[in-house]
Amino acid sequence: MKKLMECMTEELGKAFEKAGYDPALGRVSVSNRPDLCEYQCNGAMAGAKAYKKAPFMIADEVAAVLADSPVFEKVESVRPGFINLDVSAEFLASYMKKMESDENLSVDRAASPRTIIIDYGGPNVAKPLHVGHLRSAIIGESIKRIARFMGHKVLGDIHLGDWGLQMGLIITELRKRQPDLPYFDDNFEGEYPSDPPFTISELEEIYPAASKRSKEDEDYRNEALLATSLLQKGKRGYMALWNHIMKVSVADLKKNYENLNVSFDLWKGESDVQPYIPDMVKKMQEDGFAYEDQGALIVDVKEDTDTKEIPPCMILKSDGASLYTTTDLATILERKKLYDPDEILYVVDKRQELHFVQVFRCARRTGIVDEHTVLSFLGFGTMNGKDGKPFKTREGGVMRLENLIADINEEMYKKIVENRSVRDMDAEDTAKVVGLSAVKYGDLSNQAVKDYVFDVDRFTSFEGNTGPYILYTIVRIKSILNRYQEEGGHLGEGEILPAGNKSEKDLMRQIVGFGPTVEDAFEEKAPHRICAYIYDVANAFNSFYHETRILGEEDPGRKKSLIRLLDLTRKVLETSIDLLGFSAPERM
Ligand code: ARG
Repeated sequence: MKKLMECMTEELGKAFEKAGYDPALGRVSVSNRPDLCEYQCNGAMAGAKAYKKAPFMIADEVAAVLADSPVFEKVESVRPGFINLDVSAEFLASYMKKMESDENLSVDRAASPRTIIIDYGGPNVAKPLHVGHLRSAIIGESIKRIARFMGHKVLGDIHLGDWGLQMGLIITELRKRQPDLPYFDDNFEGEYPSDPPFTISELEEIYPAASKRSKEDEDYRNEALLATSLLQKGKRGYMALWNHIMKVSVADLKKNYENLNVSFDLWKGESDVQPYIPDMVKKMQEDGFAYEDQGALIVDVKEDTDTKEIPPCMILKSDGASLYTTTDLATILERKKLYDPDEILYVVDKRQELHFVQVFRCARRTGIVDEHTVLSFLGFGTMNGKDGKPFKTREGGVMRLENLIADINEEMYKKIVENRSVRDMDAEDTAKVVGLSAVKYGDLSNQAVKDYVFDVDRFTSFEGNTGPYILYTIVRIKSILNRYQEEGGHLGEGEILPAGNKSEKDLMRQIVGFGPTVEDAFEEKAPHRICAYIYDVANAFNSFYHETRILGEEDPGRKKSLIRLLDLTRKVLETSIDLLGFSAPERM
């Protein structure tokens, strides 16, 4: 659907043309002097040189052509040559009506949908989730939803870290604790028990204990390395243990991600692509890309235009073991084979950027992907504490995701109970819903690449640029709509009429930004655009609400129009927060 800005730009373009100038000069933008006008066009300034004319003369002529334009209710030429514009309230209302009836709320869906795999989440099995994984999950989930809304075919893949040293560590520690288990008996030929020899809480204790010990005790570390390599070679007992570890942790991970309203289409991991590695490496050697350097196997990936040194991609270590890089390359190979994606997007900590530069170049150079497959990296910044350092627990340890969420929910609960508008019974559930908005909005409202400060107090506030403020606004709208219905009114009657006051018009002017915002957010992979948009809409709505009688409106036609406007506001806000990955409660 044509955007309001396009309609206005077209109208200006026609006027420039009519006055004898290039229609391309007619670009309209939001006014940077909202005290003077709503929109502006600086085309006369831009065209002055080419036409050898004073800009205000051009502006005067164009304004004269627009004198009775149906699109604008005010067109003013001001010195030195700007054109100040106010959109016509009638035109705006008719635009709102079209937007209301458009099932995508004016968003243009992709004409030719692409297949996009988003690699996000990236937790490491058996290690607790930490805040870094939180950012990947929050940002990746939002981009997935935006891309889907745009009409693309999107697959979210969690890409579990399930094949590394942590597995060898757990096996080693388990062996020390329960040496009699059949998994450690090389002569055991029977069937291994189907029940795991640990619970999730035991597993969560085993890994850190093993990790700590391996740092203090070299023999222990070597044992863990050996166990990892035996597992990777497929040792029967270790594979059986690995399956137990996977089952127990994946069930726990699923629960954790569900609480975050994050879901994956594919639960694949590093282990799944190991079978591809031998052939992949062989082909790289045969094709002359991979060669031996000090015992290791490497592929050069530097390019002439590099301004800083890009080291070669290491494919196999001198002991023949594969690496993080090798696994990522094999993963691209598998994805290409199974899903033939147009794009693979990685949402990973920006400190891993060099790794992905190497992997992408190597994949292209060795022909794992052709030029049609876009490989992109969205690197996010660090979540810091108030001290400006990476977020830690009060004791200085790594903050576990569950504890962080629990802290937020507790704070949210306190604030909701203080607000006292909810009976205690559902305050806890409401706190969870609102708490999630606090965490997600707090993260997504920043440009992903930037570091930000995780501030529980600020994020959970009902005022300011926060998730709870947005939800509060939605709940307010819903309660008015509910009351209207309780009083016998029906939604969807009448029609949207031209705005009756400035704040109502301002609200309408904000709402129409939905289409361009979602399209830009997709193009730029920038959920923060949607946050900025809903913050503006929420502010415009609250000003409107304070200045306008809604349920008390006496003219029935106007009342129906106001209700429709409220319902549309609710719809753009609720659709937007769904794209960000959270939802609003019924009451707060
Ligand atoms: N498991 C990794 C980590 O915790 C993140 C994985 C990111 N995705 C990838 N394809 N490498 O750092």
